Amino acid sequence: MLTIEKLNVDLASNRILRDVSAQFDDARTIGIVGRNGAGKTTLLRSIMGLVKARSGSIRFDDRELIDLPGHVRAELNFGYAPEDRVIFPTMSVEQNLRLPCEVQGQSAQEITERLQTVLKVVPQIEPMLARSGSALSGGQGKMVALGRAIMVGTRVLMLDEPFQGLAPKLSQEYALALGRLKELQPDLCVVITESNVKLLGSIPDQIWTIERGSLTLNT
Ligand SMILES: Nc1ncnc2c1ncn2[C@@H]1O[C@H](COP(=O)(O)OP(=O)(O)OP(=O)(O)O)[C@@H](O)[C@H]1O
Ligand SMILES: [Mg+2]
Repeated sequence: MLTIEKLNVDLASNRILRDVSAQFDDARTIGIVGRNGAGKTTLLRSIMGLVKARSGSIRFDDRELIDLPGHVRAELNFGYAPEDRVIFPTMSVEQNLRLPCEVQGQSAQEITERLQTVLKVVPQIEPMLARSGSALSGGQGKMVALGRAIMVGTRVLMLDEPFQGLAPKLSQEYALALGRLKELQPDLCVVITESNVKLLGSIPDQIWTIERGSLTLNT
């Protein structure tokens, strides 16, 4: 369980997240909806430890994360697919997928097993494995970024605007992949941001709205 309390984050001396409090339970799929600049990416980056909080608390299973550096948080098995994907162009798709697990120090066998699971969830990746990370379309890059986040995201999976710019058919495939993932890992907590709530369809169990850095649960 991820518990956020009175989280305040400043960027360039501007308050970006304001007293954000939320509880994201295991086995839930949570939508975070807010317009451009509302603070969606900043919230996910704060949970990942990529931006420093000014004050507040982020706890995961009663462990306080707020002062834990990003590289230590890697052990927590949070997967993160940033909105700009960041697939490394000089590596193959397979190397891109293996990388976060290698950073965690997992064995080659563990990584291969995890990769098999990811390919069950996102079979579209299989024919792309040997391809260069620079040779992907926008939509293919989104599928690979999803796969890479699932490689390490065994407890919490955070997806930043995954449906933005995806063609309807690919959106449908993406949603089906998330459904397969939930079947394989029912306890996983999935957090998905979007600016357009319609793109989330019936995927989330719970929707929060973020507006100028304030987060509220929709009822
Ligand atoms: N590095 C930064 N320095 C200063 N301000 C920033 C920085 N990054 C983001 N901001 C500001 O913080 C606010 C929230 O940005 P954020 O990227 O979290 O929003 P978002 O909801 O993800 O928006 P989008 O839908 O466009 O992705 C915006 O006003 C943005 O201009
Ligand atoms: Mg964003």
